[in-house]
Amino acid sequence: MKDYGDDISCKKTPNVSLNAEITRRKAFASAFVSGAIVSNSMDGGIVANAQQVPTKIPISASWKAVDGLNSNDKIVSFDASAYKAMVDDSSRTPLFKKSIINRLNSAPNGPESQTVLDLGTGPFAVFAIMAAEAGAGKVYAIEGNPEAAASARATIKSSGLSEIITVYEGFSSDITLPAKADFAIAEIVGSIASEEGAYATILDAHTRLLKEPNNPNSWIPNRIQTYAAPSSYTLHNLFQPPEFDWSKLNGEPVRFNCRDEALQLMSNPILLEDITFSEITNNKSFWKKDITFTIDQERLDDNTLIFYDELRKNRLSKSEAEDVSKRTGRAFTGIAMWPRLFLDADEKIQVNSRSYPNGGHQKSHWQTVLPIMNDVPITGLKGGDEVSVNVDFNVGSDILKPPSYRLNGFVTMYN
Ligand SMILES: C[S@@+](CC[C@H](N)C(=O)[O-])C[C@H]1O[C@@H](n2cnc3c(N)ncnc32)[C@H](O)[C@@H]1O
Repeated sequence: MKDYGDDISCKKTPNVSLNAEITRRKAFASAFVSGAIVSNSMDGGIVANAQQVPTKIPISASWKAVDGLNSNDKIVSFDASAYKAMVDDSSRTPLFKKSIINRLNSAPNGPESQTVLDLGTGPFAVFAIMAAEAGAGKVYAIEGNPEAAASARATIKSSGLSEIITVYEGFSSDITLPAKADFAIAEIVGSIASEEGAYATILDAHTRLLKEPNNPNSWIPNRIQTYAAPSSYTLHNLFQPPEFDWSKLNGEPVRFNCRDEALQLMSNPILLEDITFSEITNNKSFWKKDITFTIDQERLDDNTLIFYDELRKNRLSKSEAEDVSKRTGRAFTGIAMWPRLFLDADEKIQVNSRSYPNGGHQKSHWQTVLPIMNDVPITGLKGGDEVSVNVDFNVGSDILKPPSYRLNGFVTMYN
């Protein structure tokens, strides 16, 4: 069993709550999928017909980075509570502070020789202030959200650091700095690492804003990743058509508090996105690859027990909790994704939003993102079955165009 700690608020709460009234599930029509006979179980969900070996069930999802998130139609934006959750994230902010201080102290001519860029400073200018307090000679703080930029100016003024830190309001691509920076702090990392437009922003910053953009010491973080694993989700099993129509989400993924036990992984995680800021070039903005996850029986067994406990906590009767947890523990909903960051050039300072390498729940303000890849859960999976997807992400080379994501593939069930 895995280790779970305290809860923490996240960038955005999930769309649906386990405390909502639980409706009765209904059986619905049989379907023929991919040449193999599959049918809907009495409790909803697709199950393989035992005579067919193997059974392949198609799965797919596609969405844009801004779907379901606050945005100004161009980049993801945040409300005050989301900004506060970032600053208060004890698994993130102190590690950024350590990296900023280390980087300034490693400058041959001392911290005061360094010009720092805080790209996406936010309303608290948190990293700009850390850099100034650690002795940076000059800090440029860019912020594209007008309210956040105004708050950043006020915060800097009240900290008495206005002489060192200058706030520039607008998209970084529209801003020319008086001088290029020695290094940039750029916490523009989404719950899918690329979804806040980091690729296009850093690509542009390479050409205009940094002295040595190809030097790994020029970026905090220098490398961002997205990990992924097929997942089971209780509410997808509890709420089903015709009362609850998941297709109405229109591809918009469900976003989970990182600690939410309603989502459990069915296999070991696999690296999906891997973006190194010092190596960004214009021709890497498309991510296309094929990935196969192998379902892990031990995880399914663990997950069933966790789901049972959660459902009991949410006042389901013993028999219903047993029934739902057994089914959910073996049911595929979609491929969950979450980020990982390497803050320093040596990759010694790492920020994990779920535990690495197993993907267990832990404290983080980042979310776990789950596209629903079939209108009903695909039930009856067991160890050795496979989930294969073609990953087709366009993480963008234009700051004003949100990244887009597509996952297409199959669940393959062996008899
Ligand atoms: C995840 S928040 C981080 C805020 C703060 N740096 C922190 O770590 O607490 C990212 C911020 O960057 C801003 N941002 C993202 N891309 C930007 C760009 N290309 N130009 C200007 N601001 C940008 C967003 O508006 C947002 O305020």
